[in-house]
Amino acid sequence: VSDERPLIAPRDEVASMEGYFSPQLDVSVRLNANEAPEPPPPGFVAALASEINDVALNRYPDRVAVELRRAIGELHCVDVDHVYAANGSNEVIQSLLLAYGGPGRTAVVFEPTYALHSHIPRITGTAVLAGERDKDYLVSPEEVDRVLAEAARTDPNEPAVVFLCSPNNPTGRVESFDLIEHVLELAPGLVIVDEAYGQFAPRSALELSSAHRNLVVVRTFSKTWSLAALRLGYAIADPEVVDALFSVSLPYHLDALKQAAGRIALGYVDDMHDRVRRLVAERERLITELGARFVDVVPSQANYILFRVPGRGAHDVWETLVGQSVIVRDLSTFADLDDFLRVTVGTASENDLFLAALDVVLAES
Ligand SMILES: Cc1ncc(COP(=O)(O)O)c(C=O)c1O
Repeated sequence: VSDERPLIAPRDEVASMEGYFSPQLDVSVRLNANEAPEPPPPGFVAALASEINDVALNRYPDRVAVELRRAIGELHCVDVDHVYAANGSNEVIQSLLLAYGGPGRTAVVFEPTYALHSHIPRITGTAVLAGERDKDYLVSPEEVDRVLAEAARTDPNEPAVVFLCSPNNPTGRVESFDLIEHVLELAPGLVIVDEAYGQFAPRSALELSSAHRNLVVVRTFSKTWSLAALRLGYAIADPEVVDALFSVSLPYHLDALKQAAGRIALGYVDDMHDRVRRLVAERERLITELGARFVDVVPSQANYILFRVPGRGAHDVWETLVGQSVIVRDLSTFADLDDFLRVTVGTASENDLFLAALDVVLAES
């Protein structure tokens, strides 16, 4: 290249950040990304293959994905104008922050929680104010009061956005309805309840949507629907919010195959709930097995478990497991999760391989 002038730097907040990468290693047992261990049912794959014949590939897809959104609405008993869909729930959250965040606005999170809840605000120029979970990794009403008061100090309309995550990633704890209602009543802006793992919880915050216009519930096809490769997620929100989300969406952001795949997947809701039941049984078995090995375990209501091997560093445990072709999530980057790791619940045989690999770690200790 003959032009040797330095390239322009990205915006300051982007220049100082790293993208979000979860390691994708070529190992036999992948228990690091909370994916479903089972594929979607064969009937779904066959129906999708035959649908491809009907897709007009030379034409742009439906800009507002009305059939897919209507099907999602039917699942949750809401009209289509309450539903927004995008390429994964991360993109849904990005659209929410593009519309409601930005310079001069603040998003509140309660750590430790899903890293993208602060990463996405930052890339959209939104300030992040972090509260702390209590010793049981739950959000307390006192902490909500403290953090919301702090955000409102300079502007009573702030924070523009509050994130809750239930079940919370990476801790697996479910927030009480009282707590969610408390936040909805107090928050001047939107309350985004991330229910990526909502099918594992006894209740959904959606029960509160008729009473609270500021509630946005975000869900995904990546976990319980066994469709992480599809990249599809959605929000259920007030129609005014859905309109704002369409204002910031790129035209035709959801491709035609994805729209069809999501709609077809919703015909297999019973299979999805069966998979959830199998995962819950495996989760409980894993918790018992970990307890029997004197490993510290945080009770989980999701498809992953936070655990710690007493006396061993998280990264050291992670490396020994990877050495045996088992990958879990190393949480060393979370300041408040000293030496914890997170294991996704896999199939029975994957979980056995994980336990066998963990026995090797313990034998070294
Ligand atoms: C709490 C939470 N929200 C959102 C996501 C992102 O999911 P998606 O694949 O729909 O972008 C994840 C993925 O791990 C998650 O744990």
